[in-house]
Amino acid sequence: MKALLLAGGLGTRLRPLTENLPKPMAPIANRPWLEHLIIHLREQGVDQFIMAAHHYPDVIRRHFGDGRRWGVKIEYSLEPFPMGTAGAIKNAERFLDERFLVVNADIVHLPQLVPLLDFHRQHGGIATIALTEVEDPSSYGVVEQDDSGRILRFVEKPRREEAPSNRINAGLYIFEPEVMRYIPAQREVSIERETFPRLIEEGAGVYGMVSNGYWRDMGTPARYRQVHWDVLNRRFPLLMHGRQIQPDVWAGEDVEFGAGVLLVPPVLIGNKVKVGDQTVIGPYAVIGDNCYIGAHVHCSNSILWDRSVVRDNSRLSNSIFGYRTVAPAGEVFNNSIINQPGEVMRA
Ligand code: GDD
Ligand code: MG
Repeated sequence: MKALLLAGGLGTRLRPLTENLPKPMAPIANRPWLEHLIIHLREQGVDQFIMAAHHYPDVIRRHFGDGRRWGVKIEYSLEPFPMGTAGAIKNAERFLDERFLVVNADIVHLPQLVPLLDFHRQHGGIATIALTEVEDPSSYGVVEQDDSGRILRFVEKPRREEAPSNRINAGLYIFEPEVMRYIPAQREVSIERETFPRLIEEGAGVYGMVSNGYWRDMGTPARYRQVHWDVLNRRFPLLMHGRQIQPDVWAGEDVEFGAGVLLVPPVLIGNKVKVGDQTVIGPYAVIGDNCYIGAHVHCSNSILWDRSVVRDNSRLSNSIFGYRTVAPAGEVFNNSIINQPGEVMRA
């Protein structure tokens, strides 16, 4: 089975972390989310991926190449300009000649494909949209369905009081290749605002099936952090790299702790991390590979990407540091999101 991964958005709401990175490459528990996603979909039977990218596509290509290392085939469909969620599908038409899957690559979930594929086959529509239920649907695509599961209306980001239900587009679709006939070429097209409404209007058969399980869009700093806390407290059962060195504290290879270091669970620490004397890490901290944390540091509710440095006596809470960010000694970071590789940052 082939899957087209939509990974070309600008990630505006996650800036500055996405200033030099496609959002789906942001790490979750120390690995790019896209890597978790590809491994999961591979286990669900997907063996060919088409990466629809535009914003820093080389970051994706450098990491995955042709996919061989992951036992899958990955091809790249680059857009000359951001072509939108349907434009990106149309742009990849040459790769998609049979039933295919489309996934918003910034959604954090581990969907079960078999029930969705069965549902799609049974209903015989041109498209099946995976749905999930949320309390406030106003920042998503909201659907209205009949008893058979057919979608009667698709409204993208309605005002809360105007949302027809709290069933939303989970950002995963199964399509028949005929869908290409409904998407104009060579311009930006939104699947949510243009293609789904058109398919519904023309009676092409758009169905929706609620897919249960953990689901979150990681597109804002608050949600991105929440995904991590859900991983740490095991509400989201993502594979942890590392072993449990004390209850709910995971650490990778070659981690060095100074004297009197206190690890307050839950905590995840990557490989080759050094932590100085009397430092307190946690609760809720994720430290990437090759990070260096000095002495007498306090780090809680924070996420450090690989190769970050926090010098002595600094305090971090509710903060996120991008790759190679350097915090000077004695600084206090509260609610800071910093992405300045190699530069010494002050709060
Ligand atoms: N290739 C490509 N080109 N990808 C794009 C483009 C583009 O021009 N624009 C957006 N994408 C990708 C993003 O990288 C992301 O993975 C996905 O398409 C969705 O775009 P977002 O910008 O994150 O949309 P959203 O989160 O506001 O809303 C979408 O996702 C919701 C679920 O989280 C919609 O599909 C909603 O209907 C849905 O409920
Ligand atoms: Mg999104």
